[in-house]
Amino acid sequence: MNILSSSILSADFLRLGSQIEEVDKAGTHYIHIDVMDGMFVPSISYGMPIIKSIRGITDKLFDVHLMIVDPIRYIKDFVEIGADSVTFHLEATDDPVAVIDEIHKYGKRAGIAIKPGTPVETITPYLDKVEMVLIMTVEPGFGGQKFIPESFDRIKEARKLIEAQKLDVDIQVDGGIYIDNVKEILKAGANVIVSGSGIFRGDISDNVKRFIEILAE
Ligand code: DX5
Ligand code: ZN
Repeated sequence: MNILSSSILSADFLRLGSQIEEVDKAGTHYIHIDVMDGMFVPSISYGMPIIKSIRGITDKLFDVHLMIVDPIRYIKDFVEIGADSVTFHLEATDDPVAVIDEIHKYGKRAGIAIKPGTPVETITPYLDKVEMVLIMTVEPGFGGQKFIPESFDRIKEARKLIEAQKLDVDIQVDGGIYIDNVKEILKAGANVIVSGSGIFRGDISDNVKRFIEILAE
């Protein structure tokens, strides 16, 4: 199934609650929550208090994307405040299996992410242990960047690696995805689409509905 995960990094934080209600109502499947520590990526976004306070306004799956060093330190905290799925970066830890085990210990979905410069085959040893892989389609750290065209081949490669092991693993893509390029991205083999600017710029409900229509085709 194709899934839309709306990235609140591009929301208007003065209206965060009502904008989350709006994407929820319009049919987004997941809420994508980017956590940045100023170390793994240059920016600092938001943390636990924000996530905790928005947990009450929607039942949609909280898809937490950790862009932080040594993510194992915080898995328990993110689970306790309402994360349903936790994705960490392969580049941010020496022991990815320990992080995956920690996420599963709390019964949550685990995702492993790679930056655009990290070879796709590096995820191979973890494919049978995670629910999702995240192929970053921009350099992590900021919303509103341009989709990197080499990502098409990287998505195809990830899909092949998953099929070679006959696994059922979601492929998430994140960065520079809009209504006008999402079809081609789905065709390459991605099935969980993250969009920030593509959702929160312009008419939010309309953007969600148009994405959902294409995803359902
Ligand atoms: C970037 C984040 C993305 C970001 C995507 O590091 O991981 O989730 O919100 O934003 P857009 O869709 O604007 O590229
Ligand atoms: Zn993200």
